[in-house]
Amino acid sequence: MADVPSHAFASDNAAPAHPKVIDAIVAANDGAVASYGNDDATQRAAEAVRTVFDSPDAEVLFALTGTAANIIALAAAVRPWQEILCSDIAHSLVDEAGGPVRLSSAPVTPLPSDNGLIDPALLDAAVARRGPVHHSQPRIVSITQSTENGRVWTPQAIKDFIGHAHDLDLLVHVDGSRIANAIAALDISAPDAIADADIVTVGGTKNGMLMGDAILVRRPELFDGIHFVQKQIGQLASKQRFVAAQFEAILGDGLWLQTAAHANRMATRLSAGLQALGLPMAAPTEANEIFVDLDPAAYAAVSAEYSVHRPDPLLPTVRFVCSWATTEAEVDGVLALLAPFAT
Ligand SMILES: Cc1ncc(COP(=O)(O)O)c(C=O)c1O
Repeated sequence: MADVPSHAFASDNAAPAHPKVIDAIVAANDGAVASYGNDDATQRAAEAVRTVFDSPDAEVLFALTGTAANIIALAAAVRPWQEILCSDIAHSLVDEAGGPVRLSSAPVTPLPSDNGLIDPALLDAAVARRGPVHHSQPRIVSITQSTENGRVWTPQAIKDFIGHAHDLDLLVHVDGSRIANAIAALDISAPDAIADADIVTVGGTKNGMLMGDAILVRRPELFDGIHFVQKQIGQLASKQRFVAAQFEAILGDGLWLQTAAHANRMATRLSAGLQALGLPMAAPTEANEIFVDLDPAAYAAVSAEYSVHRPDPLLPTVRFVCSWATTEAEVDGVLALLAPFAT
């Protein structure tokens, strides 16, 4: 038994930064440059984000965490009497300590989902109470690609969902903390992974960066004041060149999709192995996250060696997340520990 459990599957943000990212930071560490994003690296990184998402008219902001990127995007979308919709497992709802509510003063209302995938028909009911002064007014719906439970929105599904939301006069935010995993898993273009979304947070931290997520504001006129929200919550990094350099490094030569594809491959290997052992999967494995139900003995065996997350302590579901750095040996190590619990 290991003295200290490995964090290889705890989360993709437990992974180290990719060496090319570190090299890029070192290269950016040269002399004095303009601060607060007025530097050349920031302009180049913003252009790289615009280019991969084929959004020439978008504004790009950079934040230090995915939580901050979501909060900035959502808080800039609404006024206090409006409402933010999202899935019942959305990170913005469950895992941001109420940040979007605090910064926007608008409620965040969950919609039922299939592991984060929302039926577009549910939006009709959500907007039905619009109008009277007594009710919060739905303004934006946030969806996650890939979802918190590791599912992906196919190009058709996300296109239909966003089309319907727009028909209902709702804006759409895509939490793309793991968008590279969705793009790689579906083998689609980046624009197809976000369809006609109005604003997208683009993950870097979970995909090999040291830290940093981008905000792609595709309809800037609808997010008036977003730069002030970013500044107010302390997310306009004065030394932004170092975040920008990381984005240049991962986007420039397709590294972000190579790292994501590797994470997905490791997840597929682990998922296939768990299923071969007859262990019950709690969600389909479609990107880099695996959810499996383990009885207490199996959980104890695996968690002695690997730190793993149990989203709900009352349920037997255990989450494994693979990253760009996960190895086949680590995957096979988990499977060996669980082999005695095969059914
Ligand atoms: C779907 C999703 N969005 C956003 C975040 C936030 O990222 P961070 O931990 O960098 O704030 C996470 C992190 O786990 C996430 O899973």
